[in-house]
Amino acid sequence: MILETARLVLRPYRVSDATAVHRYGSDPEVCRYTDFGPNTWDDTLGFLQTAVHPIPPKIELAITLAGDDAVVGGVGAWPVAEGRWEMGWVLRGDMWGHGYATEAARAVFEAVAERGGVHTIFARCRPGNPASARVMAKLGMRFVELIPREKEVRGEWVDSQVYEVTLPGADVPA
Ligand SMILES: CC(C)(COP(=O)(O)OP(=O)(O)OC[C@H]1O[C@@H](n2cnc3c(N)ncnc32)[C@H](O)[C@@H]1OP(=O)(O)O)[C@@H](O)C(=O)NCCC(=O)NCCS
Repeated sequence: MILETARLVLRPYRVSDATAVHRYGSDPEVCRYTDFGPNTWDDTLGFLQTAVHPIPPKIELAITLAGDDAVVGGVGAWPVAEGRWEMGWVLRGDMWGHGYATEAARAVFEAVAERGGVHTIFARCRPGNPASARVMAKLGMRFVELIPREKEVRGEWVDSQVYEVTLPGADVPA
């Protein structure tokens, strides 16, 4: 799948993206609130091994600026239950603050929403990550719950905020 937006091209990852992916995947500031990283080189290669061939229907796309094929981030979406999809995103630090994450996430959000049978799209972030929460809000997601100590990340139990949206006209199971 390739998605084009006003300023971005979202395309499948390639093994040759390793150096570009490692640049942000190994950055402690980028990884402050992510479940992955900071990556070792082997972590990045391991990620790419699965990312180049995502198992359908998972969507896993590299973010590039239109006219420049270098990967500056990633965005993905995957089903967690019947009709319920989760999304996630990451962007190289020097790309923050230009609306790119929202633009990329919105394109994937729309691709998921256009699939048949999807009723809910949600995302999770750490309470200390307002930039990501703001991306969720701009996608139309609303805060639904705080899950205390949801998972262990790098030896520390972390909370998750869940934001979600029910698609208009969707048939949500009881
Ligand atoms: C989260 C992330 C993808 C956002 O990327 P981005 O391209 O800067 O996002 P956008 O520009 O589309 O939107 C960010 C919004 O958050 C706001 N924001 C940024 N920092 C903020 C802060 N500290 N407090 C409140 N709002 C903040 C911005 O003002 C913007 O909102 P606006 O358009 O209403 O002004 C990027 O910061 C990132 O990659 N972080 C590291 C990885 C990560 O945390 N991924 C998500 C894991 S859940």
